[in-house]
Amino acid sequence: MPKLKIKDGGECEIAPTKRLVNALIDECKIDQLHACGGFAKCTTCRVQFVSGEPQKMTQAEKDVLAAKGLLGQNGLRLSCQILCDQDMEVQIVSRFEGSGRKDSGARPEDAITPPPVWTTR
Ligand code: FES
Repeated sequence: MPKLKIKDGGECEIAPTKRLVNALIDECKIDQLHACGGFAKCTTCRVQFVSGEPQKMTQAEKDVLAAKGLLGQNGLRLSCQILCDQDMEVQIVSRFEGSGRKDSGARPEDAITPPPVWTTR
């Protein structure tokens, strides 16, 4: 199974069909924000890739990153739009703690939402 490493944190093995946002929450016990519930609308689920950044990207992720001026910025990607289908290391950059929000956001569904249309970054 692919390995997910957290910079300055631990390392877990994750099922390759699991969304990165849910792996951060469930296996890595990170208080990752996901304010829109995993629908590629808010960018609060963003992480910064240290290694293993996927080449493929959903069109929804590309559109929202471009709209917010974040596309191609230092490995910033939306964890709700990525599957843990290869080894990767990420830095946590958007946590609930210190955010001032009332919660982290609704639980993202198991499958990527909206239904992914794949493109490349
Ligand atoms: S963009 Fe909102 S949770 Fe990913």
